[in-house]
Amino acid sequence: MSETTLECQRPRPFPLERTSVPEPAGDYRRLRAEQPIIKVSLPTEQEAWLVTRYSDVRALLIDERISADRSHPNFPLRRPVQSVLRKGFSAQAKSLLALDLPEHTAPRRMLANEFTLRRINELRPVIQKIVDDRIDEMLAAGPPADLISDLATQVPSRMICELLGVPLESREFFQDRTLTLQLPGSTPEQQLQAADDLARFLDELVTEKEREPSDDVLGRLVLRNRDTEVYTHDLLVGMAQNLLIGGHETTINAIALGTIGLLQRPDVIAELQSDPDMIVATVEEILRYYPIFDVMVRVAKEDIEIGGVTIKAGDGVVLALGSCNRDEERFADGDTFDARRGDRQHVTFGYGIHQCLGQNLARVELEIVFATLFRRIPTLRLAVDLDEVPFKVTSTITGVFRLPVTW
Ligand code: HEM
Repeated sequence: MSETTLECQRPRPFPLERTSVPEPAGDYRRLRAEQPIIKVSLPTEQEAWLVTRYSDVRALLIDERISADRSHPNFPLRRPVQSVLRKGFSAQAKSLLALDLPEHTAPRRMLANEFTLRRINELRPVIQKIVDDRIDEMLAAGPPADLISDLATQVPSRMICELLGVPLESREFFQDRTLTLQLPGSTPEQQLQAADDLARFLDELVTEKEREPSDDVLGRLVLRNRDTEVYTHDLLVGMAQNLLIGGHETTINAIALGTIGLLQRPDVIAELQSDPDMIVATVEEILRYYPIFDVMVRVAKEDIEIGGVTIKAGDGVVLALGSCNRDEERFADGDTFDARRGDRQHVTFGYGIHQCLGQNLARVELEIVFATLFRRIPTLRLAVDLDEVPFKVTSTITGVFRLPVTW
């Protein structure tokens, strides 16, 4: 057998090389055209199928033969530290993200009520105040600032306090632990301790809401559901954990990559200043263009024939969202950032039954952050060259550790 044939048969190492972060891997385009579903070897010493076309990824995400059950032994990219964190965190209740049909339906329905567009629009003044207060502090302290610790981490962590109804006197403790989970300087031991503290805190918070339901997400969930068959204390604790984890790092990274993206495009910032309504389309394009969530993972429950290959029962599947969002078959001129494109059919929030529950909230947070930031600090710029920005690139996400800015 020739060397080249052997090379073709050997699973390709994943993650693929990324030469110009925050752009997605350059090779996605060739794979979509020539080998849209290939075997890859993962850093967790597993093998899996990498799927790079928009149409194949969407088809798999609504295929009931695909499972999101993270406890499956072959679930891709299970890492020791993350699984310990996950274990400490979700010991009582299985995460919504890990449930397949039909178990997923009832808890998802319980929570969905709280994330309708109407509810999220009611939160606009709260989000605006959080962002304004943080920018007041940045301006008072004077340049330079770290946009990650001074703004990006603060928005989701304060929002989650509002949503869950964390009492004022516990907010400092709660935010300290959520930030320890997210900030780059934390050691794995500190993260584990923080996860443990938060798990205990959320358990007690739910007990408190059960005793005296207040007017917040958890309180309303208790009132509306406690007499139903599906309701359990542990289910509610699990939901609180889901919201905490689901809405944090993703939002921080979207704020970071969006700010970098806009600072690289002063013409877009100028357009936004003269046409503030454009922010809606621009946020959508930031979400499509940047691989905030580069890949999502699943495992096959049965054999699936797709794109000329057979994904066998038990095989891991890696769905390349960062590739789908640039797929020319779906997005004309997909590698071009078009601030007025406004196409909401990207897969940054996933697709199918697990499609992001917090997407309305995320969109409004991002709209308010970017609109306010560039209105209040029109001269904002990076304080270092782009190639000095410490990007955080893992197998699944793209983010930034620190974002030094000045004005
Ligand atoms: C830019 C920000 C965000 C991005 C890119 C994002 C992305 C995603 C993606 C890709 C999924 C699907 C994961 C999968 O199928 O395996 C998901 C699910 C989820 N997200 Fe988000 N998310 C964001 C913000 C939020 C926020 C703000 C919240 C709530 C506070 C949230 C709560 C959730 C929950 C609860 C799920 C699980 C839904 C289910 O399994 O039914 N997310 N998110």
